Amino acid sequence: FAGVAKIPVVVHVVWNSPVQNVSQAQIDSQLDVLNRDFRATNTDLGFVPAPFTGLIADSRIEFFLATEDPNGNPTTGVTRTQTNKTSFSHDDQIKSSATGGVDPWPTDRYLNVWVGQLGGGLLGYAQFPGGPAETDGVVILHSGFGTTGTAAAPFDLGRTTTHEIGHYLNLFHIWGDDGSGCSGSDEVADTPNQGGPNFGVPAFPKVSCSNGPNGDLFVNYMDYTDDRGMVMFTTDQVARMEACLDTVRTDLIS
Ligand code: ARG
Ligand code: ZN
Ligand code: CA
Repeated sequence: FAGVAKIPVVVHVVWNSPVQNVSQAQIDSQLDVLNRDFRATNTDLGFVPAPFTGLIADSRIEFFLATEDPNGNPTTGVTRTQTNKTSFSHDDQIKSSATGGVDPWPTDRYLNVWVGQLGGGLLGYAQFPGGPAETDGVVILHSGFGTTGTAAAPFDLGRTTTHEIGHYLNLFHIWGDDGSGCSGSDEVADTPNQGGPNFGVPAFPKVSCSNGPNGDLFVNYMDYTDDRGMVMFTTDQVARMEACLDTVRTDLIS
């Protein structure tokens, strides 16, 4: 795509107790985070250690709440549905009205984001490009969504949604999903080979897999650190996301 790609988003709020019915302000705060993070205009880029600053990249991808629903009528880009289910998991039940959730809007034309209560410490999950249409999109724990309302530290800077949309646009975890081994790859050339996930907020340098002296790129959105510790995508990660929008997900931006 040329210029900037603007992705229409529908947020499906699926709530059981009223506190889970997140406010419009909380939803807006998440959209703001996405538009800063994906354009590399987030104000915490100063957290990137000096040897890595040359890898910081602007994806030219932006997000907006849909203004037209699937029938062509005006919409806020938000649906709100009460459910009997007290909690959802990785099994996609939140994505279907038949199982206590909400059906997606056409997944070729909208990025569907389901927000609700998740169990088992799950912050969110995503479907990679090329999967079944009826479950395409990302799911985010309400307390890991946005920066206000129910958002709770240390996952209260909206980075779970940034991370999950990274997967949705074809990014793998930066450590290569091989446990703590050094043979897995994220298929991205400019990220250092990394052992396993990082948690919390590591100190620089964090060396693994003989990747010294600079070590892991633990400030990357596709690691598992706290929200305040993940602040950037790299040039080659951006190339993968842009390629996804130019191929598998091209209808999203046309
Ligand atoms: N899928 C990951 C999980 O649920 C999301 C990790 C997001 N990390 C973050 N700091 N927000 O564990
Ligand atoms: Zn992930
Ligand atoms: Ca690894």
